[in-house]
Amino acid sequence: MVGMNDLILTDEEQDLLAGVEGPGVRRAMEIVVALARIYGAADLIPVKHVQIAGVSYKNLGDAGVEFLSRWAAEGARVRVPVTLNPMGMERGKWQSWGIQPGFATPQLSVIDAFEAMGVTPTMSCTPYLFPGFKPQRGDALAWAESSAVAFANSVIGARSNREGGPSAVAAGIVGRTARYGYHLDENRGANWLVEVRTPLKSVADFGALSYTVGKAVGSGVPWFADLAESLPPLPGDMTLGGPAGDRLKTLGAGLAAYGAVAVYHIADYTPEARDAGPELIRPGAKRLVIDSLEDAYRVMDADPDLRKIDLVTIGCPHASLSEIQQVAEVLRGKHLKTRLWVTTGQITRERAAELGYVQIIEAAGGEVVADTCAVVAPMRMLDVRTMATNAGKMACYAPMHSGVKMRFGDVEQCLDAAVTGEWRN
Ligand code: F3S
Repeated sequence: MVGMNDLILTDEEQDLLAGVEGPGVRRAMEIVVALARIYGAADLIPVKHVQIAGVSYKNLGDAGVEFLSRWAAEGARVRVPVTLNPMGMERGKWQSWGIQPGFATPQLSVIDAFEAMGVTPTMSCTPYLFPGFKPQRGDALAWAESSAVAFANSVIGARSNREGGPSAVAAGIVGRTARYGYHLDENRGANWLVEVRTPLKSVADFGALSYTVGKAVGSGVPWFADLAESLPPLPGDMTLGGPAGDRLKTLGAGLAAYGAVAVYHIADYTPEARDAGPELIRPGAKRLVIDSLEDAYRVMDADPDLRKIDLVTIGCPHASLSEIQQVAEVLRGKHLKTRLWVTTGQITRERAAELGYVQIIEAAGGEVVADTCAVVAPMRMLDVRTMATNAGKMACYAPMHSGVKMRFGDVEQCLDAAVTGEWRN
């Protein structure tokens, strides 16, 4: 072991930093060590799983494609399971969608570079829904998808900071991350006490709650005092989704999008809150009381005069099996007048197809879309200018990143717009 300005590296880590395994691994180790120094980490910890974000060519541009391709050509290979966030299109559908080769070709080069590094091309923001990738309580992770970080830390009790794109890739290549932030007990305590005094009935309500809380607490750690009353019990098998997981998925995504929350606790419900109880609330925690979600809906349903919707999108974060089932049940025997995307991961879509849900949605004229979402796909190229969603994060990001006008409401309202061809209040 060698100390470097208080950072302790093992002999093996020293070798990686010295380039014993080649320039690609050295570059990765330099990134991890630089972050460790910036954040004052004492040492590095092995990670069980890495989730890479920022995969779309829309975000990366040519410089990002070149950087990743060079890294792969230098021989860098991942040494732990590593999965990918959504990219800018679905692999088998981009031509029929009208995506130009000028976008598709560099996008496919990005995936080629990751696959050359040994990354599993899941192209989904919900690795915790996939058998084989769902983390366990206490696992150290290096995840870059902020919604997944909130879910893993809060609902599962695993540990991850909000990694950046390159730092997650680097963590996958060296199998380690710096021990700081949410890997440490002292940073996981709550510094906001949130009381919710209004009923929460839908995924959209949890999205609206995420707006209100995220805006107030920023990067804080909220403790929800009474939210367990609005949630069914957490299922044993989280990979199937279900009403509890679907609500918490959207809550964490919105808290991370409207604020920068990476961990939250729900009294008597989430694992660390169940074990530690109110001791998890730090002295001096601020208090936030929420009596109504009206203001949140007013802001998130940003274009109240909008009736004509180009695309209804469900599945942000990517839809679980239970969400796809819910859409299929509503659409059975119906014919859509508006384009519908239910966005999900390939793995979930395959399971949904086995159960017949995909076929029902497609028979109605909708698409169960894998690999991408309406934020990271080039929506202008797809001629989409107006959208409707039940997801808080989508309502936040799509207007910013895809330049669309947006309606926000519960899933029944969104599907009604898809069936009737217009948003009806
Ligand atoms: Fe996932 Fe796209 Fe939403 S990456 S969290 S579906 S914005």
